[in-house]
Amino acid sequence: MGSIHTSGDQYRNYQDDRSAKAQDTIYTASNGAPVPHPYESQRAGENGPLLLQDFHLIDLLSHFDRERIPERVVHAKGSGAHGVYRTTDSLEDLCLADMFQPGKECPVTVRFSTVGGESGSHDCARDPRGFSVKFRTDEGNWDLVANNTPVFFLRDPAKFPHFIHTQKRDPSTHLTHADDSTMFWDYLSQNPESVHQVMILMGDRGIPDGYRHMHGYLGHTVKLINKKGEWVYCQFHMKSQQGAKFITQEDSANYSPDYSQKDLYESIAKGDFPKWSFEVQTMTPKQAEELWETDKINVFDLTHVWPHSKFPLRKVGEFELNENATNYFAEIEQVCFNPAHMVPGIEPSADPVLQSRLYSYPDTHRHRVGVNYQQLPVNAPRVNYRMGNFQRDGAMAFLNQGSRPNYISSIAPISFKERQVNLDKSHAHFASNAVTFLSEIREEDFKAPRALWEKVFDAKAKERFISNISGHMANCKEEEIIKRQIGIFREVSEDLAGRLEKATGVKGYPGIADLKFNGTHNGMARKEADRVANGMGDKGVQLSRGEANGAPVRGTHSSKVVANGGVNGAVNGVH
Ligand code: HEM
Repeated sequence: MGSIHTSGDQYRNYQDDRSAKAQDTIYTASNGAPVPHPYESQRAGENGPLLLQDFHLIDLLSHFDRERIPERVVHAKGSGAHGVYRTTDSLEDLCLADMFQPGKECPVTVRFSTVGGESGSHDCARDPRGFSVKFRTDEGNWDLVANNTPVFFLRDPAKFPHFIHTQKRDPSTHLTHADDSTMFWDYLSQNPESVHQVMILMGDRGIPDGYRHMHGYLGHTVKLINKKGEWVYCQFHMKSQQGAKFITQEDSANYSPDYSQKDLYESIAKGDFPKWSFEVQTMTPKQAEELWETDKINVFDLTHVWPHSKFPLRKVGEFELNENATNYFAEIEQVCFNPAHMVPGIEPSADPVLQSRLYSYPDTHRHRVGVNYQQLPVNAPRVNYRMGNFQRDGAMAFLNQGSRPNYISSIAPISFKERQVNLDKSHAHFASNAVTFLSEIREEDFKAPRALWEKVFDAKAKERFISNISGHMANCKEEEIIKRQIGIFREVSEDLAGRLEKATGVKGYPGIADLKFNGTHNGMARKEADRVANGMGDKGVQLSRGEANGAPVRGTHSSKVVANGGVNGAVNGVH
């Protein structure tokens, strides 16, 4: 056999394919056989039907028929680019992750997005923005799947699909909330813990001026572990070095539907590379327990923020985006970000929304892209050791790990890398009765939104906020929903509620004391009958009442369980 037909020719090189010029290629069918003209077809005579044997035409049409993959169920419209992250200030005292050593660099891919719209929707919609970063570290990929807001609409994960359905099209009219905002406000007015995020959304940050001018926040609490095995809670922030800018509701109509894509692409193309600094807030487990006791701020609650006065930002590094995608579909549509992609030194906290996300993303990736999505070049880890595992086969298996055993073989064993610390010592004291949990709305949930209204929004920002909300509520068909939502805003500020009443012409409820919510226990209800969500009886979900609403209370982080029942003390896993 001639040497040109040996194994080297069995695959094409990704980088070569990505960068080849059109002029350097020859037209072929998918099997590589040259075809003289792409428009030709075979038929039985000049006016006869087509021939089934015309592989070229069938090849062309059948591939075209399958060009679409499912769009992301949320965050479908997005833009992205590649770049480099660099650690400028060591975080080694708090985190053993290799990427946090001073001077350490790694390639990143970032994808920005709107949330509710389809993949063809407008970039200047009033919506939160997604901000996902894939750090290709020497110890595997770490994905920070964040938003441009530090809080979220919910803290009970089972609400997510319901909430998202209210952001999408009506099942019957097929209209979005631009034309009918009834279900949008129905959900929010039944789930008052959303109010802080609603205020951000309806305020100036609701339409950022492109993706370069917005900050990013994971919002969730995670854990950082250092080489001594000590750990702290952490929040990640990405601060735009271009500054934060916004577009007003009125002005948004003047922008192209692809404004953010154009702005990002063109600025990178002309060498004006956008940059973000990467910063952390950290607190010890003891501080987390104290924070609940003193300020009723729950670090496992995605609707709460950590006060910067007590937990100042600390800069760790920065990243810049300096390369546009060569092929949008391959590099941005197929990129799969997953909050469960963490590297040694970074661990999830018990935040229930984060915990749910750890499951949901890889599940959707298997559906949206396919089971072997991790083998695609944009997703593939680039570690400085040869990676191996026992995940084989499935659709489109490419790096299928050769002839290496597909189990833990004693004859040809795979190598294992030890953990640097005893992970069991970084867990909290979770042992308890199983509970069915649903959070309840309490006075403390209104503190941060109140500060936003009173201390952050200036006079003009307040006017824009009222006009944005009343404009949006003009399409809400149920007055009762508006009354409830104004009642919720009244708990934030009488001034805010009064202005909204004037702007909408609807007299809202005096507060939430006499409201029953279908989605949330009402810890502020006057009557016992209104306290339990949806009026559930004795066997309903009531356990958060009178307790810590999901916060880590004193003793949560005691090391008792680890000391007595950790790896050594456990009897075959029975504690
Ligand atoms: C229970 C809560 C949540 C669930 C079940 C959920 C689920 C999902 C799913 C299924 C996707 C589509 C992923 C894909 O097709 O690749 C997605 C995308 C995304 N989500 Fe969430 N999500 C939740 C909460 C959040 C929160 C709290 C944030 C921000 C802090 C967030 C940020 C994002 C971002 C940025 C994307 C787009 C990722 C990309 O650019 O590919 N999500 N989410």
